[in-house]
Amino acid sequence: MKHHEEKITQAALIIKKAHRMTAASGAGISAESGIPTFRDPGGIWDHMDMLEVGTASGFVNAIERNAETLFPLFINILDAFQYAEPNPGHMALSDMEKMGILKTIITQNVDNLHQEAGNTNVVEVHGNVFRSRCINCSHRVTVDRKIYIRELKEKIDRLMSFNLENLLSLVMICDKCGSMMRPDVVMFGEQVHDLQNAFEAARNCDVMIILGTSGVVYPAAYFPVEAKQNGAKIIVINPTVNAFVRESDIYIPMKTGEALPAILNLIRN
Ligand code: APR
Ligand code: ZN
Repeated sequence: MKHHEEKITQAALIIKKAHRMTAASGAGISAESGIPTFRDPGGIWDHMDMLEVGTASGFVNAIERNAETLFPLFINILDAFQYAEPNPGHMALSDMEKMGILKTIITQNVDNLHQEAGNTNVVEVHGNVFRSRCINCSHRVTVDRKIYIRELKEKIDRLMSFNLENLLSLVMICDKCGSMMRPDVVMFGEQVHDLQNAFEAARNCDVMIILGTSGVVYPAAYFPVEAKQNGAKIIVINPTVNAFVRESDIYIPMKTGEALPAILNLIRN
């Protein structure tokens, strides 16, 4: 980290003076919790065709066609979700909220780790996989991450075969209207959640810190642009260059789990 010390110091100076910082996070901030990202080498879209399983209809068709291949991949992701814990990057953001510096996190992640780290103002534009939504009456139910996954894996173990009918037996039933419930996550082509809150948090911040996102998915990729246009300082933390580096005031080519605690350390002292 030696060679990024100067940038860490510059970032800490900017953040310490911030009155309303917004964080915009992507899969990279959860990588150090063991959850695979989508577009890194070996990431989720290396193992599954995004266009095939990324849409609601494509997901169902893909399972109908080759559940035997897809299911072991889903189990790997479920394992990652089950054993993940908030990492030092998540915890640093929670401390920054407690210090009154960080006001909002806009996240593309669906893993609930920001909330479990203690952040209370999290705008989940792609939803949350541990919240189910009724396909008929939109009633929502939030479940405990670890219990939900343990029970889901037990049910899957009891399945004799992975056909669509058996797989539908895994979904939750709405206790309000008896219809099927689905994970409250946004698939490609579906309406993104909480856009107004997200754009407000981007427009009203004086610093935006962009954490672990490749910046290739819209409308999430607009948030930093909105922040910059409204005069915010832009800080990017990502081991690889992404679409926002060119617009950034400071680019720290590090992992969030290392850079954020180092910044927090300097802010505290
Ligand atoms: N710390 C910081 N950044 C990291 C780390 C880390 N430890 N590890 C990886 N990264 C960076 C990668 O360099 C990459 O730029 O995180 C980014 C992850 O990019 P993606 O996998 O594209 O994830 P994300 O940007 O969140 O994807 C956005 O695409 O498929 C959809 O809905 C899905 O929400 C997702 C959206
Ligand atoms: Zn219902």
